[in-house]
Amino acid sequence: MSTPHGGTLIDRVLPDDAAREARARASELPKLRLSQAELNDLELIASGALSPLSGFMRKDDYDNVIESMRLANRLVWSIPVTLALEGDRNRSGIAEGADVGLYDADGLRAILRVEEIFTRDREREVLAVYRTTDEAHPGVARILRLSDTLLSGPISYLPKEQADPLGLTPAQTRSEFAARGWNTIVAFQTRNPIHRAHEYIQKCALEIVDGLLVHPLVGETKADDIPPSVRIDCYKVLLKNYYPPERVLLATLPAAMRYAGPREAIFHALIRKNYGCTHFIVGRDHAGVGAYYGTYDAQRLFDQFSLEELGIVPLRFDNAFYCRRCQGMASRKTCAHDQTDHLVLSGTAVRAMLRSGELPPPEYSRPEVARILADSALPAPA
Ligand code: ADX
Repeated sequence: MSTPHGGTLIDRVLPDDAAREARARASELPKLRLSQAELNDLELIASGALSPLSGFMRKDDYDNVIESMRLANRLVWSIPVTLALEGDRNRSGIAEGADVGLYDADGLRAILRVEEIFTRDREREVLAVYRTTDEAHPGVARILRLSDTLLSGPISYLPKEQADPLGLTPAQTRSEFAARGWNTIVAFQTRNPIHRAHEYIQKCALEIVDGLLVHPLVGETKADDIPPSVRIDCYKVLLKNYYPPERVLLATLPAAMRYAGPREAIFHALIRKNYGCTHFIVGRDHAGVGAYYGTYDAQRLFDQFSLEELGIVPLRFDNAFYCRRCQGMASRKTCAHDQTDHLVLSGTAVRAMLRSGELPPPEYSRPEVARILADSALPAPA
């Protein structure tokens, strides 16, 4: 199993007695309502998924991450994790050194000890992280909607009932891996239903490691992505029918999607390292959207870092497809046939088929998965 990034698995969840005390104290503190993506980050920080972060980033970390993909202590880190202060910067009580209550729709979630208040360098951030300032990019659009004033500092998180059995924390996946006797574990990030290409690269990876963590992202995604509940039904039916159960673990990652392509691929890998994984699948246009990134840009970005400093091995996969002449899944690394023999369908084309009542072919999607998608109300195209 891998060592957490930075050496220690962070745990910012308050024990019950401290949580009671925090709840009592919160009524006197300034209140801040977080956006969905910030709540996702908050939960990840609390569980240690973003180790070594114990809170929202200070300016020195923020600047270093943007500039050189490292924290101020030189650990590799590719995505800023920040908290925006909406409204009046001079709101009474919000000041460096003070505590602030962080809220979701249901109430208090955490207390932030404000270390530093600083201003986001919007243009520089979006250009460095997303490689574009185009407001049509969903990650850029999210940053542009937020205030430029950022609050940083460590958080203390209130314990939450774990309602979802798939919502395993890094400590829980680690103990599950240990219980199963897995030493090498490959993680698969996804925000889409699993199709044959995904299955193919997962199983190629599974040939060389002890276990597979299918780890769909279930935090905020763009409106036209397929909702997590539908995707999870697809993962379950696929695993039940086509995978050896003793070699696969399905769990969810409560992260928001940034659509930052290459930088997000590094981020996704470091998060899975914290969950205990030793290998990470990086396929075609990982975490990409539209045509903002080259097909293999994400894979190439891993070349900038040594395996030692990453602490997780990227497994790079070429674009996979079904080849009619090979009669199986392949990539240009394993198939010499012409493109006309390959079945290529974009996600958009598949969604259009499903909307018109047509099932994608079994060479693209297992029939059990296609059936679930056909029976669900899919989101409208963007
Ligand atoms: S992502 O935004 O989470 O990357 P998606 O769920 O589609 O999107 O992809 C999950 C993983 O599978 C990523 O590593 C992606 O690069 C890889 N992948 C998706 N489709 C293919 C394909 N046809 N061939 C190779 N890799 C793929």
